[in-house]
Amino acid sequence: MDINEAISGRRSVRDYTAQAVDEPAIRRLIDAAVNAPNAVNQQPWTFTVVRDQRLLDRISRDAKSHMLATLPADAASGHFRSMLDDPAFQIFYHAPVLILISAIAQGPWIVEDCALAAENLMLAAHSVGLGTCWIGFAQSYLNTPVGKSALGLPAEWVSIAPLIVGHPKAVAAPVPRKVPEIRWVG
Ligand SMILES: Cc1cc2nc3c(=O)[nH]c(=O)nc-3n(C[C@H](O)[C@H](O)[C@H](O)COP(=O)(O)O)c2cc1C
Repeated sequence: MDINEAISGRRSVRDYTAQAVDEPAIRRLIDAAVNAPNAVNQQPWTFTVVRDQRLLDRISRDAKSHMLATLPADAASGHFRSMLDDPAFQIFYHAPVLILISAIAQGPWIVEDCALAAENLMLAAHSVGLGTCWIGFAQSYLNTPVGKSALGLPAEWVSIAPLIVGHPKAVAAPVPRKVPEIRWVG
């Protein structure tokens, strides 16, 4: 698939078939991720692959409780609160795989490095017909001591990009973009 087609066609997918994603396919996505530009080529990332649906259900339940307990009481949180209050809402949309990108080193650019790896992974997935979605709802919980222990992550790791992967049930609808504001200086 042409790069422009991949960039413009990728969408966050929230509805998946039950079909598993095989290990070679997961490895190819991680190979794409590690080709991302990263500061001083430190490659500070690690990839935790979770396919156990009972574990993902448990993390979803606990992450929702954690989010509800820590959401600010402003109006903007109202929409999130009603989603998180719904017992039927599973934050991973029952996707067959979660790939969690965590930083294993401290440094000023670990967030940028892991986010670039995440975008590579999501574009590579789209190019082979797989869907992805970054699940920010999981991020804060997975950085708590309890969340880290749920996945056996060492205390010093910082989890940055929880990405679900699976076979989309349907083509996700395009999400409108604002016209970019561009300032031409000089
Ligand atoms: C940091 C980050 C966190 C996100 N968290 C969630 C999430 O928890 N749940 C979800 O359904 N989508 C989540 N998304 C997906 C965004 O909602 C989505 O990228 C945005 O609406 C644009 O749609 P598109 O990805 O289809 O272009 C997240 C995306 C990013 C980059």
